[in-house]
Amino acid sequence: MANVKERQQFQIELAKYLAEKDFIYGPEPELYSPVAGFYSYGLIGKAMKNKVEDAIRKVFTNNGFFEMEFPIVTPEIVWKASGHLDSFNDPVVICSKCKGSFRADKLIEEQTGIEADSFSDEKLAATIKDKNVNCPSCKGRFNLEIQRHPLMMKTTIGTDTIAYNRPETATTTYLPFKRYANFFRGKLPFTVFQIGKAFRNEISPRQHLLRQREFTQAEAQIFLSKEQKKNFDLFESAKNDELPLWTEESQKKDKKPEMTSLADALKKKYLKNQAYAWSMNLAYNIFLSIGIPKERIRFRQHHTDEKAFYADDAWDLEIELNSFGWTECCGVHDRATYDLTQHAKFSKQDLSIRQESGEKIVPDVIEIAFGIDRPFFALLDLAFFRRDDAKRTVLSLPTNIAPIEVGLLPLVKKDDLPAKAIEIKKLLDTQFRVYFDVSGSIGKRYSRLDAIGVPYCITVDHQTLEDETVTLRERDTLKQIRVQVSKLNAKLSEFLVNGFKE
Ligand code: GLY
Repeated sequence: MANVKERQQFQIELAKYLAEKDFIYGPEPELYSPVAGFYSYGLIGKAMKNKVEDAIRKVFTNNGFFEMEFPIVTPEIVWKASGHLDSFNDPVVICSKCKGSFRADKLIEEQTGIEADSFSDEKLAATIKDKNVNCPSCKGRFNLEIQRHPLMMKTTIGTDTIAYNRPETATTTYLPFKRYANFFRGKLPFTVFQIGKAFRNEISPRQHLLRQREFTQAEAQIFLSKEQKKNFDLFESAKNDELPLWTEESQKKDKKPEMTSLADALKKKYLKNQAYAWSMNLAYNIFLSIGIPKERIRFRQHHTDEKAFYADDAWDLEIELNSFGWTECCGVHDRATYDLTQHAKFSKQDLSIRQESGEKIVPDVIEIAFGIDRPFFALLDLAFFRRDDAKRTVLSLPTNIAPIEVGLLPLVKKDDLPAKAIEIKKLLDTQFRVYFDVSGSIGKRYSRLDAIGVPYCITVDHQTLEDETVTLRERDTLKQIRVQVSKLNAKLSEFLVNGFKE
């Protein structure tokens, strides 16, 4: 969507739709005074979030990653060691007239279109001055002294111990490193992931689920030696897979991303090592598996001055949204030995591994950092964009992440049809998430289910009472077939995985 006005209109309509159809409520608490950056997953949205989360979890576990869960609240020393306490902050400018505070880089982006998130404080101040960036609330001029706003949310443990709600899961995944070393019997590489909440005290969060103060991450960590980074066992089988790579060089020259095989990306030195290339490919495949179309995905290399303080190399997987344009949905970071070295230093413990050769090394870490909220939002953004069929509103969500798999509808509310439908529901409930609906006309009930993306609807009618068959209707094509009740579970399972067949 090239036009800014159209895009803004789409954002408003999408947010309204997500609230009305029970995907996302908020900002919360709606009942009192809403606070920006906090949303709840509604009665349909939470089921879909679980599906997205499970799809990501499944790919990690199928690839040999073990899941762990660490407390969210973590004492200050952890964040001193990780570097977040000193470096994890946003640049802020204050309006000299109304005293409102705003994130400097985002203001510049909004008012001038210049991407400013890698700018130094001096460059931010100069751009605000040169481009006449003014206060969005009162149109006043800014005080050009850039301040730094800490992003971590502070809390207290007991009466006086300073702690923080973690700003990322990754750091907390590193802390039990010695336990992992024991579990994996000291043999690198070992792979661990964590799915859980993280918090960032954004100054003025906007963009709906994309920039929240409390959000869910799914971050996987590969602990490995430098030798294993170069020669990664799993690389061979993936080396001909292609990724849409948009290198720093191509960005500077205004060229488009190029589909490049992993092998070529290494040869051309776009990517530094096999393990990193494999990790990017894993992330790409996760997005394809949840139904994001290829043409909406690109990998953008971070500019040298944009990388997080812990990253030696960083690429973002971005998805092109109708509401907000290209948006980071996963980051792959080469964190090298940074984190384990820092935590060894601050905890005064040995976080090294003895190699077979006898040499002791601190492992490198490659991180595949997913959020759950953004892929979730992306799927709805894309489905909502395609929603309008002239006669009906259909969310064509991919079947594997549709929040409800089957609608079950007695044709009328009489003639024993509801009782028969309840009998069938018991069979379906063992395998599927079923939405049973008897109220209103059949047309209205179909519409309600189409609007939340239910891929299959089963109608129980008078013929069912005679021959034990029901109608099975496919959401997108509206095609209907009759199926024996005894074969329903098998048919639905097949259709949900392989698609509908008449
Ligand atoms: N762990 C990387 C991130 O939070 O972006």
